[in-house]
Amino acid sequence: MAQTSVMDKLVSLCKRRGFVFQSSEIYGGLGSVWDYGPLGVELKRNIKDRWWHAMVRARDDIEGLDAAILMHPKVWEASGHVAGFTDPLVDCKTCKARFRADQIAEAACPQKPSKHPGEHTTCALTEPRMFNLMFKTVMGPVEESGSVVYLRPETAQGIYVNYLNVLQSSRQKIPFGIAQIGKAFRNEITPGNFIFRTREFEQMEMQFFVKPGEDAEWFERWRAIRMAWHQELGLKPEKLRWHQHAESELAHYARAAYDIEYEFPFGWSEIEGVHNRGDFDLTNHQKASGKKLEYFDQAANTRYLPNIVETSAGADRIALTVLVDAFREEQVEGETRTVLGFLPSVAPIKVAVLPLVNKDAMPETATALFNDLRKSFACFYDDGGAIGRRYRRQDEVGTPFCITVDGQTAEDQSVTVRHRDSMAQDRVGVANVAAYLAERLQ
Ligand code: GAP
Repeated sequence: MAQTSVMDKLVSLCKRRGFVFQSSEIYGGLGSVWDYGPLGVELKRNIKDRWWHAMVRARDDIEGLDAAILMHPKVWEASGHVAGFTDPLVDCKTCKARFRADQIAEAACPQKPSKHPGEHTTCALTEPRMFNLMFKTVMGPVEESGSVVYLRPETAQGIYVNYLNVLQSSRQKIPFGIAQIGKAFRNEITPGNFIFRTREFEQMEMQFFVKPGEDAEWFERWRAIRMAWHQELGLKPEKLRWHQHAESELAHYARAAYDIEYEFPFGWSEIEGVHNRGDFDLTNHQKASGKKLEYFDQAANTRYLPNIVETSAGADRIALTVLVDAFREEQVEGETRTVLGFLPSVAPIKVAVLPLVNKDAMPETATALFNDLRKSFACFYDDGGAIGRRYRRQDEVGTPFCITVDGQTAEDQSVTVRHRDSMAQDRVGVANVAAYLAERLQ
């Protein structure tokens, strides 16, 4: 399979089967903003649920939070985003395209794609100018006198400004963490690769507050935990690697940073960052707000500003990773079978219930089974078309199991359970189907 065609096929499958649609498509779309359809919303929710379970519910030392998207504008001054969350932007006066000045060597000239911007005879590039990536809006009824507020470009700041509220209300002690899933917005200059880099996206971030001096140790611990999470998500281990940020790549807040990268059809790219932020954030918020943000360590009878280790993943980017990793095409009996081989726990539909034919009481039995199974699993009922075709439709959206009610069902109260990956078929008693599935869908 040609590398580029994998993305084309996936984008087309995502639209055709209701995973992802272009935002405002009937108006021509809105640049790099996407909507999730019926199957996409289930997939992304399953990924977020796995993250929330691993990071909050399964741990005693992390609390959840859902902070507002809009925050006091001073937050973004103290965080360094007003001054420093910028990319160098270059315009071409001839073709009107925009490029990040630091990515020109990898970009293609829109007029002559074999060359880089600036290399074609008619290119007329401007000098780089700094462009802030935060979206602005106005709070208050009158635009002129209202105050400018920003759509948050990361969820992390909502955690820092709430850290004492959470600490005190939950009676946690350091070391402890706060986790949050929520929307973030960035006016990216060069968005693209489908839902990889978008202007509106969701982050799954966790900030872990530790005693100064213990940050390097916790940083290593969190690196290991996060890499294991991606592997448990079913991603192929050989497609995952670490990228350590060199001094010149470090964000303004970071003491040390590693990215978890995945090998996409368009190359190795970041899917999650693990950052040692030191006391950068709390020091700045303490200074700018005038409020003491120190932690009182009762056992040692000392006060200090905690250091922060951050894990920051994009839910949309991981949804894309899961889709790319799961996508495969196989030749079966002279035909191409497209499969999304999802881990069962992230599959949007877990079970499809299919009457073999629409007569001989099969639809009635299948409907009763469907209504019973849907109490426990995300189920789909399909009675349209040849059974082989219905199996293929479920393979293409990653449904791990199909249950077929057939002629034998009336005789011995059993159904066929067909497995997505092996295409093997088992015979299971109707009364045992729910338990059979529960065991295999964890
Ligand atoms: N709080 C730290 C922070 O936001 P980041 O490396 O800028 O760090 C973390 O972003 C993660 O958020 C990335 O690894 C990626 O998964 C996701 N992300 C960032 N920008 C994105 C964008 N424009 N579109 C989709 N996901 C994005």
